[in-house]
Amino acid sequence: MVEHHGSQCGFCTPGFVMALYALWMETPHPSEPQIERALQGNLCRCTGYAPIIRAALSMGGHGTTDPLMNERAQVQGRLAAWVDGARVDVTNHQSCAILPASTDDLADVLEQHPDARIVAGATDVGLWVTKFLRDLPVAVFIGHLDGLRAVTETADALHFGALVSYEDARAPLVAHFPHMARYWDRIAGWQVRSMGTLGGNIANGSPIGDTPPPFIALGARLVLRKGAARREMPLEDFFLDYGKQDRAAGEFVEKIILPKPVPGTLHAAYKLSKRRDEDISAVAFGVAVTVADGIIINARLAFGGMAATPKRATHAEAALTGQPFSLETMQTAAQALPQDFTPLSDMRASADYRMRAAQNLLTRFWLEHAGQPAALEDVT
Ligand SMILES: Cc1cc2nc3c(=O)[nH]c(=O)nc-3n(C[C@H](O)[C@H](O)[C@H](O)COP(=O)(O)OP(=O)(O)OC[C@H]3O[C@@H](n4cnc5c(N)ncnc54)[C@H](O)[C@@H]3O)c2cc1C
Ligand code: FES
Repeated sequence: MVEHHGSQCGFCTPGFVMALYALWMETPHPSEPQIERALQGNLCRCTGYAPIIRAALSMGGHGTTDPLMNERAQVQGRLAAWVDGARVDVTNHQSCAILPASTDDLADVLEQHPDARIVAGATDVGLWVTKFLRDLPVAVFIGHLDGLRAVTETADALHFGALVSYEDARAPLVAHFPHMARYWDRIAGWQVRSMGTLGGNIANGSPIGDTPPPFIALGARLVLRKGAARREMPLEDFFLDYGKQDRAAGEFVEKIILPKPVPGTLHAAYKLSKRRDEDISAVAFGVAVTVADGIIINARLAFGGMAATPKRATHAEAALTGQPFSLETMQTAAQALPQDFTPLSDMRASADYRMRAAQNLLTRFWLEHAGQPAALEDVT
């Protein structure tokens, strides 16, 4: 970074150095696309990116092994020796931090502390503390619970434990739903994708969380657990109103179930934001349309950013069902969207932009699947 003049004010430099260091450990001679991906989560406001990218391209010239790596196995072994399978409870007169021993123990802890704040990847909760200076009187840390981190596959579904990170979900998700690859890379930057969890993204109930729209379109179901009792619901039913979810005190998200794709179903997922990387959605859209003999027999359309919760477009779905898979049908469904949504204006987009973008996305979906990608330029 010094040799290539990759720093001016230096405010961003520690973050860039650490991101490049992590990249170098995995890929000492990275390509430009690999560098761009590694720097998705870093912003520089004064140097400009060209010198930083030049510095990254030259990293391999400074060796390929960090001496610290030699100690890694030893340090991991020493840390592992501390694990005794017991619950950790650090309580003082001001706060209480608990690390449950297992998923069953988590259920017990939450029965004892129903108002505790669960902390998974902390990519949301961390900001409440660092930016909003909020106190967490009782924090239950669950990031170490392997029982919630599994991805399993049955004959007809994929099961994601609540703690599965975006990064770990990517391969199994994309293997069954290739359309999710591009969408997934638009969620946050890779640092946040490595820590942020599917359960956290759903449980926080944000109207602009990126997993609910495509997952609702795919027919996802949510498993909630309280004590020994479990209940399962369609994901869309979890979101009751702005900031209000169907989750009782002491209950936690245990897993997300995605049914495997039905033959004949066309999928897409789109995210519109002001910036390509590391930005919040203005509109997110997930769609699954099943076509048999040219007729739409089932349609699921789910939007984020259009209402107080992630929500299905039931009027537009009704306008599609039973109709030919044609541009005219898509445009009729687009005209039904104002019956489904009354979006708000905010710093990300105006209400009018949101509605027109949502309508255009239906056309875009049809163009992509009707084999007319050349016409896409005109609608986005
Ligand atoms: C720089 C940055 C960029 C981001 N970009 C995006 C983006 O592009 N798209 C997007 O959707 N989000 C984005 N986020 C938000 C965040 O990363 C995601 O919402 C993430 O999935 C949250 O997961 P987590 O494990 O970090 O949750 P945490 O911060 O640990 O928790 C979030 C909330 O969920 C609750 N919770 C967590 N796990 C459970 C559980 N198993 N059961 C019940 N409640 C639970 C917590 O109590 C808390 O209320 C971004 C965040 C940052 C900091
Ligand atoms: S060097 Fe100033 S923000 Fe990057």
